[in-house]
Parts: sequence; structure tokens; C-alpha cells
Amino acid sequence: MNPFLEGNFAPWRMEGVADDLTVTGRIPRELNGTYYRNGPNPAFEPAGRYHWFDGDGMIHSITLRDGRAHYRNRFVMSAGLQEERAAGRATFPSLLELDPTEVPRIKNTGNTNIVCHAGRLLALMEAALPTRMAQGTLDTLGEFDFDGRLIGPMTAHPKMDPETGEMLFFGYSPFPPFLQYHVADRDGRLVRTEPIDVAWPSMMHDFAVTKDHVIFILCPLVFSFENVRERGGAFSWEPARGTRLGVMPRSGGNADVRWYDTDACYVFHPMNAYEDGDAIVLDVARYGRLDFMTPKGVENLSYRDDTAARMHRWRIDRRAGGVRSTPLDDVIAEFPRVDERRVGRRHRFGYAAARETGVEDGSRPEWTSVRKYDLERGTMETRRYGAGNGVGEPLFVPRTPGADEDDGWVLVLVYDHARNASRFDVLDARAITDDPVATVWLPHRVPYGFHGNWVGA
Ligand SMILES: [Fe+2]
Repeated sequence: MNPFLEGNFAPWRMEGVADDLTVTGRIPRELNGTYYRNGPNPAFEPAGRYHWFDGDGMIHSITLRDGRAHYRNRFVMSAGLQEERAAGRATFPSLLELDPTEVPRIKNTGNTNIVCHAGRLLALMEAALPTRMAQGTLDTLGEFDFDGRLIGPMTAHPKMDPETGEMLFFGYSPFPPFLQYHVADRDGRLVRTEPIDVAWPSMMHDFAVTKDHVIFILCPLVFSFENVRERGGAFSWEPARGTRLGVMPRSGGNADVRWYDTDACYVFHPMNAYEDGDAIVLDVARYGRLDFMTPKGVENLSYRDDTAARMHRWRIDRRAGGVRSTPLDDVIAEFPRVDERRVGRRHRFGYAAARETGVEDGSRPEWTSVRKYDLERGTMETRRYGAGNGVGEPLFVPRTPGADEDDGWVLVLVYDHARNASRFDVLDARAITDDPVATVWLPHRVPYGFHGNWVGA
């Protein structure tokens, strides 16, 4: 059995609405808006290989209003999913085993993240265009290409500049151009596209920005059709290449990118980055190794050994060159987040989903605690849920627009194995080890997924 089709990785296939959910505690009155969370849910049993990254996107929304909570979930109704519904079965291959003898058939599942920019709610997956969703109903409105201006895919991890309101993003491709950088202005118009030269085509999941720079993370997870033919997967782990960090001034272009070498590693997610004099500080969840094509098959990632993701701080010295990599923590962690108002600016606090020490649950990406990092003091606090529960990405929401950096709440979905159901916890960010301020009891489980965001009312 595929581990990504079992337990709380198994798809939830019903769409529905549940108003006025039971709440324990008190939902803060200031918390008015909607938490959107995206993740993969294969609507049909996969025909062949299946990886967590392949499932159809499903948006779960939890709206908090006047102390009450309402839930809704809908599939991202992609053209590919419509095709499969008409056929009554899965018709697309796994992304990790595209057939090199044909034009790749990629389903734009929109399954990875959901962001709101310039009033548009966009479901994102990195191999394709964004999919526009309707706020409120979660109806799928179709692919969105910035009025014809975006040619090529868009990362699932755009960055919203908290001062300019711009959305900065990139797209990568196994075909040239391997990497493009894009900027949408605060009104959502695509105003800039810049092809970026890279040394090899790679799976580039996320990037980082500062006030004046963008940082591309080129890891030695190399795409090639030879891989597909010879090894049965699209990506190979080639650590001899090392990992390279490409720093580009936001006012510059491809010719201004300077690459800095660091030890071979893989990073899905930075927490945040900022400038510190001539240095750039970049906090990341760093894997020592990432190979989709282990002897056990493409489903096997490293989530429990010494190469599993742990928070590290990279310090890129732009004057002398070089990258200093310092472990921040010895606990396995993923899905790092920062206060969105600090994106690209010096942050003191961050949050991540973490594995409790001593909790061993196999090789799947399951997390049992929420970890808060005080990076100024170098201390960590952990809200433990225990082996019987699994948590997703924690999301910080400030109490008010002008509140201090950790004055607010951490929102997190928690799956309870015994009840086979999920709940939504509102933690006080300044007291995350305390009992939740509020718990919203959801009508059913929410499968483990990827990323979510808060859209204030
Ligand atoms: Fe991600």
C-alpha cells in the first residue's frame, strides 16, 4: 500500500459546508477572516505510482467571524480533474515519472498553496499556471495567466513585499528557460519577467527575498530525461554539484546574479531572509539529502534520519564571498513560517511543524508539535500534541496590523488518530505551550496537506 494513500494522507473526497461549528474556548473577536489551506487529494485511485505531490488540490476554508467558525471544502476543479471525472478514472501519470518519449501530460492540480494578492485568490502548484478560486464559494474560476502575460509555470511560494505590496515569484521548468523571475505590482499586473541562467535544471520549490535582493536556491536535485529513461524518475540526487545560492538585486537582472556555494543539501522552504550589512541572513529547513529514487521507490523521502530537515541559518557574505551554515536546532522540522509583515525584513520569531523527540512514526512527513523559535535569544518553545496527533503548517496572524512581532495567534490544523477527525487550534503566539485560546471542532478529518494562509475580513 502506498503510504501517501493511508491514514491521514488518504484523500478526503467529499465537498461540503458546515456552519457554526462547536468551539471550545473563545475565538478572539479580532480574528475575523478566513484561513485557507491547500493540499493533495487524489479524486480517483491512482493508476500507477503515486506521490504526495500528485493529488488533486482541495481547499479547506475555516472562516472566523464574530466568535463563530464556519467550514467549507472544495476541489480545485482543474481541466485534468474534469477529464478524469468524464473518464471515471485517473488518467494522468505521477509527476515523478513523466514519459520522455511524449509531450509530458501534466495535470495542473493547484494543490500546494493558496494565496491572495490584489484581491485574487490563487491556488498554486509549481509546474503550472495559478488557478483562480472564488472567495466565499471556493468555486474554481480557471487558470490565471495575468492577462496573457505569464508564459510558463509559477512557483507555489510567491513572496508578498509588506511595504510595496508587490508579489515576487519565479517559475522553473525542465525545459529552457529553466528559471524565470517575475514581479506583479500591488494591483496584480505582471510588470516584469526576467530569465535567469542556472547551471542545471532542478526542482526549485521556493526562494527567498529581502528588501533589496532575491535569493534563488539551486540544489543538486537534477532533472533529466536520462534519469527518467535509466532510473524511472525525473530527478536524481547529485551531491558532488553542491548547492548554490543565487543572489540578485531586485533592481538588477540576470547579469547581476552572483552565485555562492554551500554544502550539498535540499531546501523546500526558507523561513525568511533579510539583509544584515553586506551579509544576507537566510533561515531554512535544510535536508542533508533528498532522493526520490531510493531502492524503496519514489515515495520514500527522508523524514526521520540524520538528513531530515532541521532549521539552519545561512549567512551569505556578499563582500568576501562564501556561505556560513549554522544549525539552529537539532529537532526535525518543516513548514517554517514567519510573520508575513516581516517577509524580507529582520525577523525575531518563526514557527514550524516539528517532530517531538522520541516520537517515531516511520518515514512519512508527519509532525506532532508546533515549534516557536526566538532567533534573537536562540531559544525554542514547543507545543506538543503527542504521537496520537499530527499537525500541519503553523500560521501566525497578528492581533492588529500594528501589533508587535509575536503579538497574535498561531493557527494550526491538528489530526487526532483516535477520533479520526481534525480540529483547528488557535494558540496564543506568546504562550504557545498553554492550552489553545480556542479549538474549532471540524466535522471530519482534514488530510495532511501543504500550505495555508489567512485572509482578513
Ligand atoms: Fe511548499
